[in-house]
Amino acid sequence: MSSALSTADGKTVRVALLGCGTVGSEVARLLTEQADELAARAGAPVELAGIAVRRPDKHPELPQHLLTNDAAGLVESDVDVIVELIGGIEPVRGWLLTALRKGKSVVTANKALLSEHTAELSEAADSAGADLYFEAAVAGAIPLLRPLRESLAGDRITKVMGIVNGTTNFILSAMDSTGAGYAETLDEASRLGYAEADPTADVDGYDAASKAAILASLAFHSRVTALDVHREGISGVTAPDIAAAKALGRTVKLLAICERVTADDGTESVSARVHPVMIPRGHPLAGVGGAFNAVFVEADAAGELMFYGQGAGGAPTASAVLGDLVAVARNRVLGGRGPRESAHAALPVRPMGQTPTRYHVSLDVADKPGVLAQVAQVFADHGVSIAAVRQRDRLATASLVIVTHLAPDAALEATVAAIGKMDVVREVVSVMRVEGEDG
Ligand code: HSE
Repeated sequence: MSSALSTADGKTVRVALLGCGTVGSEVARLLTEQADELAARAGAPVELAGIAVRRPDKHPELPQHLLTNDAAGLVESDVDVIVELIGGIEPVRGWLLTALRKGKSVVTANKALLSEHTAELSEAADSAGADLYFEAAVAGAIPLLRPLRESLAGDRITKVMGIVNGTTNFILSAMDSTGAGYAETLDEASRLGYAEADPTADVDGYDAASKAAILASLAFHSRVTALDVHREGISGVTAPDIAAAKALGRTVKLLAICERVTADDGTESVSARVHPVMIPRGHPLAGVGGAFNAVFVEADAAGELMFYGQGAGGAPTASAVLGDLVAVARNRVLGGRGPRESAHAALPVRPMGQTPTRYHVSLDVADKPGVLAQVAQVFADHGVSIAAVRQRDRLATASLVIVTHLAPDAALEATVAAIGKMDVVREVVSVMRVEGEDG
């Protein structure tokens, strides 16, 4: 059946909700409580037609007649829109493909699925004339994907850089304010409920890498998957890293960085990466504390833009889901579909080793003549230009802090490896990439 025609004829937009956890229960609540307003905004009643949960008996708070444990059956039933809040790849991928191929629109917060299968899902949506919206998949409540896809569609985005994982931002913010190490801060975050029982997806950067893939794809009109994203988490960030950053007026953040890189011959590629960086304390992202998210966008005509807000949680994420749902419902009422993401530029992904980055390196070195020159020579040997050097004397050693200009990441990594082997270097205290300042 053609759902688009049926809603254009004035019928209700019938919604299937897959998953009813923290976000899903807020979506169900808001859909019910705000039914009249949502109907007025969408141009037709938006009705919750069914809710698929694994154990219906565990949800006495929900309208029992709507509950089912047969998600596949609900997808196939007489519904117009699927709101998917289960997560994971299979079996969700199959259900959503089935729905899209039948012309049903999909609203999802499933970053893992989107970061690997957007191409396939988009093609299914395109061929059936359905919508695939996923504002809630990146940075929770923050309106970010729609501005990238629609408001900035006439501009040329050069960089999207942001804090897209609240758990790691909470941990790094706490390390910055207490001076404590990573392990004890993670323990505290778990005790306070800010970190999951298994924090791997957050602290190892998988969650942020999925989001980086989605952001890079939208910003650069290309297909970037999570596997294309260079990923480093925060478990290697030490108290001396944080102290070194502080001493230089910087702070440490885990950033998702999506960048348009133009080579000397004018060819363009996309760099997508997630790793800890030092940024100046005056940078707009430096002041983003606790579990908040923020994304900084640079575009040729618009200049610098900043998006800030709650990146997770039931009600904030439900806000983004409902925004998509109203948009999808409106499109169906009008008998069509809304703006979609495009992959027309098809830019290749640049390997991390060839991506220009800047490093901060803190060393304890022997305090004797010629040491600084020897260390500087290693940078020169690898073609890495030094931007700033700071030295502080201790008893028999000197603390040397070096910040480089932009250089290929592989050259910087090789420089650090060579420096670590020098006899005059007592200890490599801290190595971290630097962002947010001219390089
Ligand atoms: N686990 C994520 C975070 C939220 O810590 O920000 C969901 O993407």
